[in-house]
Amino acid sequence: MISHSTPTGIFITGTDTEIGKTVVAGGVAAALKAVGVNVGVMKPIASGGVEHEGHLVSEDAIFLKRAAQVDDPLDLINPLCLRHPLAPSVAAAVEGVSIDLRQIDEAFAQLCQRHDFMVVEGIGGIAVPICEEVLVADIAQRFQLPLLIVARPNLGTINHTVLTVAFARSYSLEIRGIVLNGLREEPKGLAEATNPKELERLTHLPILGTVPFDERLQGDMPPPDFLSQFIGEHIDWRG
Ligand SMILES: Nc1ncnc2c1ncn2[C@@H]1O[C@H](COP(=O)(O)OP(=O)(O)OP(=O)(O)O)[C@@H](O)[C@H]1O
Ligand SMILES: [Mg+2]
Repeated sequence: MISHSTPTGIFITGTDTEIGKTVVAGGVAAALKAVGVNVGVMKPIASGGVEHEGHLVSEDAIFLKRAAQVDDPLDLINPLCLRHPLAPSVAAAVEGVSIDLRQIDEAFAQLCQRHDFMVVEGIGGIAVPICEEVLVADIAQRFQLPLLIVARPNLGTINHTVLTVAFARSYSLEIRGIVLNGLREEPKGLAEATNPKELERLTHLPILGTVPFDERLQGDMPPPDFLSQFIGEHIDWRG
């Protein structure tokens, strides 16, 4: 546990990598910013960093920084960045780097002092190893933030989502709800149509929204206005 007063914010995790955590986190941050909240963003640990002016930077951190329109330095938003697109513990071993969680704790404490609400993106899914015995769930626990789980809307998501919820609950983490991301255009299949209700029944959690697939969310950074409006329309982010 770290020594700051209990922070306000949300920790965005997902049922998988490439599930839409950054898009949803950026959208929630942009929507909060648009209504005047002093929102901060963080990607505590990233892998698959890209070289920029001699050091590694996380594209997720760049996306979140732009979405929230904050002037915090990137190395505060993302204090730990590994080169290989692997689970952090594995990337660190391959690269001969040791992961010091104090760097993450200190950056988070500083960001909490600068902002009233923090939107934090995890890495991969909730059981991804960070170092030694530490998993993503431990980071959410250290930060004392409730979770938002991003899942896909189609066949297979019930299994992944129920497992993620059970794992989070085994850490006594509070879960605010689930967002289904990337719903394809019509025809909507039977699985997509029935999954939200079944997920609510099995997890006793609210589905806070279903975000459709939209070309404008692909590739380059969408403008913060569009992101906040699009996510704001499809997610009950106030909840
Ligand atoms: N609703 C959507 N419509 C269209 N494209 C989307 C949507 N959501 C996400 N994407 C695209 O899918 C890819 C993965 O999304 P995103 O980067 O948000 O996932 P992630 O869970 O943060 O991945 P990672 O585990 O690498 O952090 C990105 O290229 C993003 O632009
Ligand atoms: Mg991401």
